[in-house]
Amino acid sequence: METAAWILAGYLLGSLSSAIVVCRALGLPDPRTQGSRNPGATNVLRIGGRRAAALTLAGDMLKGLVPVAAARLAGLDPFAASLVGLAAFLGHLYPVFFGFQGGKGVATLLGVLLGLHPLAGLLTVGTWLATAALWRISSLSALVASALAPLYTLWATGAPRAAGTVAVMTVLLYWRHRSNIRNLMAGREEPIRGPDR
Ligand code: G3P
Repeated sequence: METAAWILAGYLLGSLSSAIVVCRALGLPDPRTQGSRNPGATNVLRIGGRRAAALTLAGDMLKGLVPVAAARLAGLDPFAASLVGLAAFLGHLYPVFFGFQGGKGVATLLGVLLGLHPLAGLLTVGTWLATAALWRISSLSALVASALAPLYTLWATGAPRAAGTVAVMTVLLYWRHRSNIRNLMAGREEPIRGPDR
């Protein structure tokens, strides 16, 4: 398959918003209308609890992991595979199937990194978990982990252009987290929590 076809497949897969699909399937409200209004696992945890959040997290990670790992197995080099990952990431942010109203990209980025090189993915997941254990703020963990992701990618793959693609995703992730960054700076970002019941 041509690289362009892999990129298109990555975008279409990335456009499947796990949060919206899971919430619909479980009879929960549309995550774009509740909480932070972000269709992502953190907000689904607020709305629907752990099971819905775990399903959302798994779905969003897989749609990054699967096309990138498949592209690598099919023989694409790390840079070409990183472009497939960028396409999946953009699909998550701007999904063609959901009015281009997508999420912030954290879980999909983690999946892309795991597909590019397990070490890059595991280091980024580990950074997210360690910072979440310290501060219990999902967006802060995402910002710290994604800032380090290009370095982890460079170290693991030895491919500067693939690390550059990951850096583009980090910049986009920061852009999508601008309201979270404002809240963090004002000291009013919410800790990770489940539904109020
Ligand atoms: O995964 C997104 C997370 O970093 C922030 O989500 O809902 O708190 O804006 P939220």
